[in-house]
Amino acid sequence: MEEERVITSKALEMDDVIDNSIRPETIDEYIGQKEVKENIKVFIEAAKIRDESLDHVLLYGPPGLGKTTLAYIIARELGSNIKTASGPAIEKSGDLAAILSSLEKGDVLFIDEIHRMPRYIEEILYPAMEDFSLEIIVGSEGNSRNIRIDLPPFTLVGATTRAGDLSAPLRDRFGIVAKLEFYTVEELCDIVKRTARVLSFDITEDAAVELAKRSRGTPRIANRLFKRVRDFALVEKKDKVDLDITKTALDRLKVDAMGLDHTDHELLKAIIYKFNGGPVGIDAISNSIGEEAMTIEDVYEPYLLQMGLLKRTSRGRMVTDLAYQVLGITKENK
Ligand SMILES: Nc1ncnc2c1ncn2[C@@H]1O[C@H](COP(=O)(O)OP(=O)(O)OP(=O)(O)O)[C@@H](O)[C@H]1O
Ligand SMILES: [Mg+2]
Repeated sequence: MEEERVITSKALEMDDVIDNSIRPETIDEYIGQKEVKENIKVFIEAAKIRDESLDHVLLYGPPGLGKTTLAYIIARELGSNIKTASGPAIEKSGDLAAILSSLEKGDVLFIDEIHRMPRYIEEILYPAMEDFSLEIIVGSEGNSRNIRIDLPPFTLVGATTRAGDLSAPLRDRFGIVAKLEFYTVEELCDIVKRTARVLSFDITEDAAVELAKRSRGTPRIANRLFKRVRDFALVEKKDKVDLDITKTALDRLKVDAMGLDHTDHELLKAIIYKFNGGPVGIDAISNSIGEEAMTIEDVYEPYLLQMGLLKRTSRGRMVTDLAYQVLGITKENK
């Protein structure tokens, strides 16, 4: 059996589909990200007062922190319809032109993974974002001409895990740029308790705290772990999730006390044992643990950096003293 992956996004998407019910729908139900939330509330309110479309919004941050959720909430709070597209799925300029010309006044266009849109397609967005106009070429070669179509005012909401991969001209056209941060244990605890309420399966306070601590600062992981722990509770014929079953289940799922999973451990150990603690380049790490460099950078590294287990230097990645401690390895006899 293939090992169950707790944190990579592929396996998680299905869960999200099944449990769309646990996705918060209003901005007040959206837990945490206080600063981003407060600012967006003001901008939405102001746009409504001016009766204009909301400025374009770029949401960025690691997977599972609530970018898609927030995009839907923005549309709902604006009282607008949302149309969705995904960067890698837009293959031809015509695809994007078709989406843009279908927009109606005030609509939200959500483009997920916007950094994965090819550059020549991206360029179509520039005039669309700036002047609400769409320039298309009609006719055949030798006899072609540009025509300009006016678009209704709309709001583009872009989401990306890698703001650094966005070209400067695209990035500059977003009036509102919001970075989502990892959630605190208290916030994750509230998220888990809310999910438990929505799914009608109780969780004790201490169990919620334990789950929150082991969720890598990420709501998607917290929800997913809750569902798995609930399975264990159900089979054990418990009517609620308690601390005991939470610990048993998370140990079985190989999620450690800090929320690190098997791949995190492998990654840190590879740097320690094979590269003498670093510094080492991302590609060398990638080869050594058989995980794509991009996945390491997007999914694993941000949390390891945040927890102070890993450092990025100009010469590569290094593990910290804390990483040795957490893994129970001494530098001398490793
Ligand atoms: N602030 C929040 N409060 C409550 N639940 C949240 C919050 N943010 C996210 N969630 C939950 O976490 C799940 C994952 O969030 P979402 O799909 O919005 O993440 P994402 O940032 O778009 O991830 P990806 O980068 O993988 O697309 C959602 O289904 C939702 O239930
Ligand atoms: Mg998303």
